[in-house]
Parts: sequence; structure tokens; C-alpha cells
Amino acid sequence: MGSDPDGKASGTADWYRRAAVELAQTSEVQVAWARGVAGDDAVVALLDELPREHRQPSLLFSVMHLLDVPEAPWSEVRDWLVAEWPRVAAVARERRTQTNEVGRCAPLLAALDRIPGPLALIELGASAGLCLGVDRYAYRFDDEPMIGHGEPVLVCATSGEGRAPTALPEIVWRCGVDLAPLALDDAGDVAWLEALLPPDRPERLARLRAASARLAEDPPHLVAGDALEALPALAAAAPSGASLVVLALGTLVYLDPAARLEVLRLCGELGARIVTLEPVAALPPVRDALAGLSAPEPSPFVLALDAVPLAYVSAHGDRLSWLSAVGQPGVASGQL
Ligand SMILES: C[S@@+](CC[C@H](N)C(=O)[O-])C[C@H]1O[C@@H](n2cnc3c(N)ncnc32)[C@H](O)[C@@H]1O
Repeated sequence: MGSDPDGKASGTADWYRRAAVELAQTSEVQVAWARGVAGDDAVVALLDELPREHRQPSLLFSVMHLLDVPEAPWSEVRDWLVAEWPRVAAVARERRTQTNEVGRCAPLLAALDRIPGPLALIELGASAGLCLGVDRYAYRFDDEPMIGHGEPVLVCATSGEGRAPTALPEIVWRCGVDLAPLALDDAGDVAWLEALLPPDRPERLARLRAASARLAEDPPHLVAGDALEALPALAAAAPSGASLVVLALGTLVYLDPAARLEVLRLCGELGARIVTLEPVAALPPVRDALAGLSAPEPSPFVLALDAVPLAYVSAHGDRLSWLSAVGQPGVASGQL
């Protein structure tokens, strides 16, 4: 994801060096760009002109994609980047990383399956709201029968001891909040949403477009604002008679560490369940609860319900590895 989960400031070159490792499963093109930036003092100096949060690797790469960076070796990309820097910097200053990864709906479905319905959903950091359409997509967990119908089909390979979902949830109300919600009927927002995907992952672009088409039939209500500030009013607007569930998928990592904990506390106070899919280091209560648990395929990202870890998940939701107490398969996941 290229974010900064523990909130520690480090040099820009180091940030890109780490991103080159983290992006290995995401995009070969971006790995080459990350390595190129990390080893180039002049490019790092340009990036350092930007506010720290706007130097993020994923953001730079999305801006380059939006502005039609050439498909070429790093030396040519580097010359383009330096020549185009004023344009790149202007967009990087005004945009933020808002990748709306519909693949995360597969692990989300697995967590929602553990909450009695009907459900009312509030997504924090909803981007364009695609994950709020979790009940409108089709799913295939391993070799199990398909859940739902139509496109996109979200495929998820699981490992470990746990219960994969068998049905879609009943969602009676949904809304989202984002600092800058993206509108699926705005050409500039759609271009940004698509630029947020790596240029060498056409299957993710196809999935995004299919999900956008499904969501556009009846788009969820999205409000502009800060997640923590908006949460009480959104919760008050939810209907009674439904389980209120707050979703935070790749979002809390962008809040400061105290605000992340406050979101968890507030959910308890509001009587809401909270599903998180965040880097391990971003949420100390989830990280601490991992002690004594194990899963066949560890990952930097954890799916948790009310801060109880359920599974390790790949960054884009296509792999899920159930956590269980060491020596007691299924304790952490199957019994919730
Ligand atoms: C990486 S995107 C994840 C989007 C979506 N949850 C998903 O999983 O596909 C993070 C989103 O959080 C939003 N965001 C960051 N800080 C926020 C804040 N303090 N309040 C509300 N939204 C925020 C960003 O604008 C961005 O759209």
C-alpha cells in the first residue's frame, strides 16, 4: 500500500526502498519505479519539496499514470518525471491515495458473515464507495459454489481453519464518509480512480469498471468529511432494527495513531460493530491480540472484527488465511 502504518518519519529514499519490496506482489512496473526513485538523489530532492503525506510512493505512481508516463525503462521515465515535475507536483499536492479496491469485499464478506443481519453499514474512507456494494458482487471462495451472480466475480483463496461465507448479507442501509469522496459520474474522479491502479494490472481495471457499473445502478450516499468527526452523526442516521457495522478498510492507517484508537472506542460507545482490514502495525489492540495466534500464510494486513483478529489477508483481498490459537485450530475464527 506504500502507506506509513506506524507513523514514523523516515527518509524519502528509504520509504521508496521499502515500497519496492512491498509492491512486489502488486506491480512489476511500480517496483522498478520505486527502485529508480530510491536510488536517484535528484528525484528524491524534488519529492522532498512536497508535504510529507504527498510524497507517498502510491500517490506519486498514480499521478504519473494519470499524466500518461511513457511505458519505458526507468532512465526514460526518470527524464519524463523531471521534465514534467511542475505538473506532477501540482496534481500530487491536490490528490490523495484513494485506491478503491473492490477485491477487499471478499474478506469483508467473511467478517460480515459473523454478524447477525440485517445490517446497516458505515464505511470510513469510502473513496468511491465500491466496498459498500459488498452484497452486489459475486464471490468464489476456493472451490465452493459461487455466491451471488454477475460481474465482478471476486475470487478468494483461503487457508487455515475457518468458515468461509456461503451467502450474501442483507444490507438495509449504507453510507460512507471520505475526506474527498469520488463520484462515479464525474469524469475527472473516474480518471483518478483508474489511475490509482498500476498500469500493468488490466484485470484490476476490469474489476473496478465492473464494480462501478453495478454500484452506479443505486450508488450509496457518501459525505465529505473526517471519519472520526462524522461517525457519531452517521451512526445517529442509521435505522434501528439493523446491526450497525462500521467498516475501515485501508483507511485507519491514514489517521493519526490516537484517532485510530478513538474510532475503536467510539464504535463501542455507539454500540456499533467494527470490521477493520488494516496493516498490523496500524492498530496496536489488533496487533497485541495476535499473540498466541497463527495462520498458514501470514501477511502485513489483518482482518479483525471488534479488534479481534480473524485472518491475515493479502493487500487486495484475494487471499485469506484464518488465524487460530496455536495448537487449537478454529478458535479465533470459527467460533465468532
Ligand atoms: C486507500 S483508500 C481505501 C478506500 C476503501 N476503503 C477501499 O478499501 O477500497 C483510503 C481512503 O481514506 C480516505 N481518508 C483518509 N483519511 C481520512 C479521514 N481522516 N477521514 C475520512 N477519510 C479519510 C482517503 O481519502 C481515501 O479515499
